Amino acid sequence: ARIPVLAVDGPSSSGKGTVASAVAQHLGYHFLDSGAVYRATALAAMRAGLTPADEHAVAVVAATLDLAFEGKSIRLAGEEVAELLRDEAVGSLASKISALPSVRSALRELQLSFRRLPGLVADGRDMGTVIFPGADMKVFLTASAAKRAERRHKQLISKGISSNIDDLRADLEARDQRDQNRAVAPLKPAPDALPLDNSDLTIDESVNWVLNCWEQRR
Ligand code: C5P
Repeated sequence: ARIPVLAVDGPSSSGKGTVASAVAQHLGYHFLDSGAVYRATALAAMRAGLTPADEHAVAVVAATLDLAFEGKSIRLAGEEVAELLRDEAVGSLASKISALPSVRSALRELQLSFRRLPGLVADGRDMGTVIFPGADMKVFLTASAAKRAERRHKQLISKGISSNIDDLRADLEARDQRDQNRAVAPLKPAPDALPLDNSDLTIDESVNWVLNCWEQRR
């Protein structure tokens, strides 16, 4: 049987993770958080004392990644790392190593393996362009930089982490620049992606918009 795929791509803090995982839950589909795959690679590389200059060694880390997702839990070689992966330092290193071609290709198989019945919702930067170019539907989710910084700020505050909204916005825009301008799999909408700017939408409104499109596709 053909296994349906819904690709959701977009910049960091656009809400795509929250929206995509809610859509997966509604549809009863599997969910791929590809950002977490890159973040886990970054964490493992960091612990091995590697930097983005060690491309080959980081690619080996990627190819041998022992990663298991189960609900909200993410285990790296058996250790629970879901919280650790949200760390800004890990995200920043993830963004740097994700520009390395051999790291991207080492992580391809792992991402493809998430496509299982009854279907998959895949969240990332290149789900619709590189990993699942034949996806049944593609959504490109964006929000203004100001809104994204504000959301990230609230998220951190709710966790009791203090942050500066201007620093967050600068960091977010730097990461967007890097993700958009890299040579391999840059962040850009697939030609057949449905754009959704959710700056002024609630999570539920975004989820319903995606679900409606999914029901009406073809
Ligand atoms: O989405 P998230 O912020 O967790 O992703 C962390 C980093 O991993 C991003 O900044 C991006 O550079 C990289 N990434 C990627 N391709 C994906 C998903 C994430 O390059 N499909």
